[in-house]
Amino acid sequence: MSDHPHRPIRSFVRREGRLTAGQQRALDDLYPRYGIDWPGGPIDVATRFERSAPLVLDIGFGDGEALAEMAAAHPGRNYLGVEVYRTGTGRLLRRIESEGLDNLRVLLADASELLRDGLASESLAGVQLFFPDPWTKKRHHKRRIVQSEWLARVADRLQPGGFLHMATDWADYAEWMRTLAEAEPRLENLHGGYAPDAGDRPETRFERRGLRKGHAVFDLVLRRI
Ligand SMILES: C[S@@+](CC[C@H](N)C(=O)[O-])C[C@H]1O[C@@H](n2cnc3c(N)ncnc32)[C@H](O)[C@@H]1O
Repeated sequence: MSDHPHRPIRSFVRREGRLTAGQQRALDDLYPRYGIDWPGGPIDVATRFERSAPLVLDIGFGDGEALAEMAAAHPGRNYLGVEVYRTGTGRLLRRIESEGLDNLRVLLADASELLRDGLASESLAGVQLFFPDPWTKKRHHKRRIVQSEWLARVADRLQPGGFLHMATDWADYAEWMRTLAEAEPRLENLHGGYAPDAGDRPETRFERRGLRKGHAVFDLVLRRI
């Protein structure tokens, strides 16, 4: 039995120590402009952008390199990145400022809580989850962000026709994602198996790390029925 029956199971560990003065300044100066405060409860994210466009949620963007590239490549979409890692968030905020990415906003929070409490049904055109922490040990599988309940919530928050794009370099997690996603009745696997390529997803930092270790990469693209 758990020693902490009320402590939620989280998909991340906060390892970050103190931020450097520069990292703290990036958050202090730029979060009020390009970040979204979320005290909990429902939020209408769409109103935080300068114009209305289909909204894509990127979960766990890391240092935001790939997300910034995607936002620049798809000016017709609004992107919301959600992270718990403050250093990476600071880096992405700087890039939003320097590149003038007005279709990208960030939110520092637990993505699972945001999905559960913050976002309305059928409010998202897409959800992307690239190289989530794999939690490779069996006793840690419960910490994987992809669970049946999480997939049901994603399916609910997606508009009909909306997409869920997941990628991982852990074969075992790929099988897990695929099995659970195919069991969710509101999601259909667009490729019947893994996607033949990464589609419009740029190479990410963690993907490069996996490739250097000789890992294969698996992409899964599902559509909300
Ligand atoms: C392995 S990294 C991948 C980063 C990036 N997507 C990439 O491919 O380079 C996973 C990221 O997910 C973030 N993360 C994990 N669980 C999260 C959660 N529940 N909410 C928000 N971010 C989360 C971690 O902080 C970490 O930065």
